[in-house]
Amino acid sequence: MEISKEILKEMNRLRETGLSNMCAENSLFEIAKLTIEINRLKKEKNAVICAHVYQRPEIIAGVGDFSGDSYKLAKDAVNVKADKIIFCGVHFMAETAKILNPEKKVYIPDTEAGCSLSESISAADIKKLKKMHPGAPVATYINTSAKTKAESDVVVTSANAEKILTRLFEKHKKVIFVPDRYMGINLAKKLNKKIGKDIILWEGKCIVHEKFNAKLIREEKKRISGLLALAHSECPAEIIKEVDFMGGTGDMMRYIEKTQAAAYMLITECAMGEVAKMRFPSKNFVSMCRLCPYMKTITLEKVLETLRNPKKEQEVNVEEAVAVKAKKAIEKMFELAE
Ligand code: 13P
Ligand code: SF4
Repeated sequence: MEISKEILKEMNRLRETGLSNMCAENSLFEIAKLTIEINRLKKEKNAVICAHVYQRPEIIAGVGDFSGDSYKLAKDAVNVKADKIIFCGVHFMAETAKILNPEKKVYIPDTEAGCSLSESISAADIKKLKKMHPGAPVATYINTSAKTKAESDVVVTSANAEKILTRLFEKHKKVIFVPDRYMGINLAKKLNKKIGKDIILWEGKCIVHEKFNAKLIREEKKRISGLLALAHSECPAEIIKEVDFMGGTGDMMRYIEKTQAAAYMLITECAMGEVAKMRFPSKNFVSMCRLCPYMKTITLEKVLETLRNPKKEQEVNVEEAVAVKAKKAIEKMFELAE
């Protein structure tokens, strides 16, 4: 079969991103056909693609205009000039982009892309917590719905939770942190705060990060000398105890960049390791990851379909009254994090 010059050129561009280390030549050919069409339609429809680092590498490298952790993507959303945003990530991320860009159209390629943390808490739960702990500010993890954010004082992400909580504790004796219980426990330990007294937590959990095995990490560290283990701060404390570094995905990427280890084990969603391997081809990575079923609902085929023929339910909308209040909590994050 004869391959066109355009496809060969695109395959070369994709190879340069490091994507070819992850897939066979025939997959690269199929990917190139899709990325050519997606990138063409993006221009035609004046759209940009935002992609979280847990997305499939062919989305990030092939068609992503903005990529990174939740905090970076929220900041990037503020500066989008295009008319449309195709958000390759989970629903709360697309909602955040919409809240920050009410005049733009925001689409999510798969409406099933939810999040166990976001589902664990509602706006009514926040109202109850505020009644139970009057005067305590509510710091809400970005992995929540717009309605939940709207009842909160400040939004935080894994990249800035420690800094923002530190600032809140300068003025308040008690802070409510929701919904990620494990991240709350990890933060309480770092900030030397008593759970239930100084810091009020919720029962939310990330179904991806709650399931790692501490014994396996210990064994891998023994087996590979010089191995550095990095875990996302959504992991339980017994995992954090075994690792050399805890942080969000952006922090993990920066840590890899500035260290020289024999190998790295990234205890988080699998795409993080794939993207790290693309960015740092000379470094070694040891597998210890899990797939997020929500993040993985998004594929290049669905992105293409969304650009070609967006369905009504793929458009992300936030009720104006909710968006105004949620935006205040997100802007408070920008103010306290910088
Ligand atoms: P960050 O990229 O902000 O660390 O978030 C991780 C996450 O679980 C997003 O769903
Ligand atoms: Fe939610 Fe966990 Fe998936 Fe992130 S990795 S989207 S926190 S379920």
